[in-house]
Amino acid sequence: MNFDFIRHDVNAQKTKSRYRQLVCNSAASQGKEIVINGKAYLNFSSNDYLGLNNHVEINKALQEGADKFGVCASSSSLVTGYHYAHQALEDDICQWLNKPKCLLFSSGFAANLALFQALGKSEESHFYLDKLSHASMIDGAYHSKAKVKRFNHNNIEQLTKLLSSANSCSNKLIASEGVFSMDGCQAKVLELANLAKSQQAWLYLDDAHSIGVIGNEGQGSNYFADIDITMATMGKSLGTSGAFLTCNEDLHEYLVNFSRHYIYSTAISPAIAWATRKSIELIKKEQWRREKISELSELFTALLSAEVELVTTQSSIHAIIIGDEKKALMVSDKLKNKGIWLTAIRPPTVAANSSRLRVTICASHNTQDIKYLAQSINKAIA
Ligand SMILES: Cc1ncc(COP(=O)(O)O)c(C=O)c1O
Repeated sequence: MNFDFIRHDVNAQKTKSRYRQLVCNSAASQGKEIVINGKAYLNFSSNDYLGLNNHVEINKALQEGADKFGVCASSSSLVTGYHYAHQALEDDICQWLNKPKCLLFSSGFAANLALFQALGKSEESHFYLDKLSHASMIDGAYHSKAKVKRFNHNNIEQLTKLLSSANSCSNKLIASEGVFSMDGCQAKVLELANLAKSQQAWLYLDDAHSIGVIGNEGQGSNYFADIDITMATMGKSLGTSGAFLTCNEDLHEYLVNFSRHYIYSTAISPAIAWATRKSIELIKKEQWRREKISELSELFTALLSAEVELVTTQSSIHAIIIGDEKKALMVSDKLKNKGIWLTAIRPPTVAANSSRLRVTICASHNTQDIKYLAQSINKAIA
């Protein structure tokens, strides 16, 4: 049979309790509830941290954007796909994060591949990635021509040594996540920024899970320091889709001229770009959404029993480490029986023996939801 490995590899996933399958959410409106096979669950696996998905004003802006500019960009940005909606969104983002330039991508995955591929032109570029960096950063870095080194998670001392031993290299890029996707803990942003400066390196932060959630206006890692290059996806707290990257004028010009992911891809939907402007407007002014995440997170932490191994964080993401894949699936199933949807995260997304429940607490949850969640987790794990 052709491509024999297909059956073999899928069967191996099943044997290792790592099999993945799609589930279809048929809820009439996106919110804290999802409906799978006709049954409603409280959703604690969504990345809609601020509860902005399906917001009436964002939906209205989407409709307005569709009416003004169309749903589809109808070509790549450099042909005729770059609309006023894109330009206006880029300007808003530059103002929000206080950056000279911004570029939009179809997804965060594409933006990460684009950035590492563009900067990793030859072995003269050196990339230093935190060990817990997202798959798209790792793929981007290793598919480039740069020399890649990984430093232990948040280990500034080790990173300093690695950077110092490459003193003669003038193209050094430190890369990390602002808030780590599977643990929810934060990068040491200020230390990274200072180190980058002292070592004449650039700092690149993937703010997929920080944007909207961190900072007095939800500006993510740039709240703590001036980050050379920031990438954030719009499909999480912003409640729309696509991604943006902010940088200096030179890099912007370079990416527009050389980034294959940018040049050879249809521009994001102008209607979505227009809707995202509204989303950013709400994020900046509605501090209560961030405060609610903090309050509910504190309550959740306080209610968990001592047997539950929780990674303590200041973000929306709260990882409960289970260890074994089978046990993680079992706990997730027990919670489903209680009407709680919490997807078990297993290798290779996380390291072996660190399978977990990744709880996301969103501004759309309430005290009652959190009490019920904590009580159900305590029982399921006991
Ligand atoms: C840290 C991180 N970077 C990048 C991405 C990819 O972004 P997108 O979903 O927009 O492709 C994700 C997840 O989706 C992520 O968690």
